[in-house]
Amino acid sequence: PEFITVQELANRMAARGAEVVKTLMKLGVMVTITQSIDADTAELVVEEFGHKLRRVSASDVEIGMRGADDDATDLKSRPPVVTVMGHVDHGKTSLLDALRQSDVVAGEAGGITQHIGAYQVRLASGERITFIDTPGHAAFTEMRSRGADVTDIVVLVVAADDGIKEQTVEAINHAKAAQVPIIVAINKIDKPGADSSRVKQELLQHELIVEDLGGDLLAIEVSATEKTNLDKLEEAILLQAELLELKANPERAAEGVIVEAKLERGRGSVATVLVQRGTLRVGDIFVAGGEWGRVRALTNERGEQLKEAGPATPVEVLGLNGTPLAGDDFTVMDNESRAREIAEYRQQTRRETEITSTGRGTLEEMMSRI
Ligand code: GTP
Ligand code: MG
Repeated sequence: PEFITVQELANRMAARGAEVVKTLMKLGVMVTITQSIDADTAELVVEEFGHKLRRVSASDVEIGMRGADDDATDLKSRPPVVTVMGHVDHGKTSLLDALRQSDVVAGEAGGITQHIGAYQVRLASGERITFIDTPGHAAFTEMRSRGADVTDIVVLVVAADDGIKEQTVEAINHAKAAQVPIIVAINKIDKPGADSSRVKQELLQHELIVEDLGGDLLAIEVSATEKTNLDKLEEAILLQAELLELKANPERAAEGVIVEAKLERGRGSVATVLVQRGTLRVGDIFVAGGEWGRVRALTNERGEQLKEAGPATPVEVLGLNGTPLAGDDFTVMDNESRAREIAEYRQQTRRETEITSTGRGTLEEMMSRI
């Protein structure tokens, strides 16, 4: 059975605790404000106060099965989402910058203008690749720790003059644990000490066997600073993506994940959302982790205002009522009261989880007024 304290029930109805105690007395239940009552009793009280009761169960706000109800015929292919990982100084940032500049449309328009934590490159072929562009391993590990597997492909950057190092191994292990395919970018091949065959040998020790050595691991020799073979790397990504048959239903309410979020002076809470399925539109009401909001504006990495953003599109969202966390889920809802309810439920359970770790019981269900 579910329980709620009299005080908490009063809070949720915006009623005075003493009033709730009095009402309970009328119902024949003698309790003090700090005691708990069961859900059925609480329901009676809520009705006495003239509210309608709605129970929100944990299953309503779970994200695990999101999108599982899509019909196979509604699925359309979508761009791959790529995270670049590798040892410190091996050239992750340089490579992301170089790839960013390979966008054909941005090239014409004069370049990408702002950092939003993820960007999409449009190739001459018309195909697109989405790169998660947040510093270090944060994008990958932090999001995974919050239950969000956003990455389809890991590009592992290894400097040809330095070889496999501690964080290279970490990155390999992260990718393996998440069962995300790896493409190796052997970087800095322009440098005098570059030795890509040594890198390939070292990869063997981690059961990563490149094509030259009889395996099926794609390894591309690149130079981020000289912009060598970036097109080959992009081809490899698209080839890998094809094998993965990445698809999503664009014709549904949007669901995605928070890549980055911060509070900005004059703009309020700003989040970069990676839409994973469905199409996000201006005016949509959403829940993002323990926050909710209504989309006021959508902006891409080129500073352009968008009306909508489909699957695998990273987009900056304005209109949040608070600042969610990287890795939080993002879900469009039918109406505001539902969005508010879920956000409140989540904030409540987060608080209770904190309290539980100091010894108090937790509520599986909550009751709220409408
Ligand atoms: P952290 O973010 O600190 O982990 O480093 P990173 O992996 O992002 O490396 P970054 O791109 O900052 O590059 C580190 C250094 O290597 C910089 O001085 C780059 O100019 C240099 N570098 C990156 N790529 C290349 C390359 O292809 N060739 C040469 N010669 N230098 C490169
Ligand atoms: Mg960097």
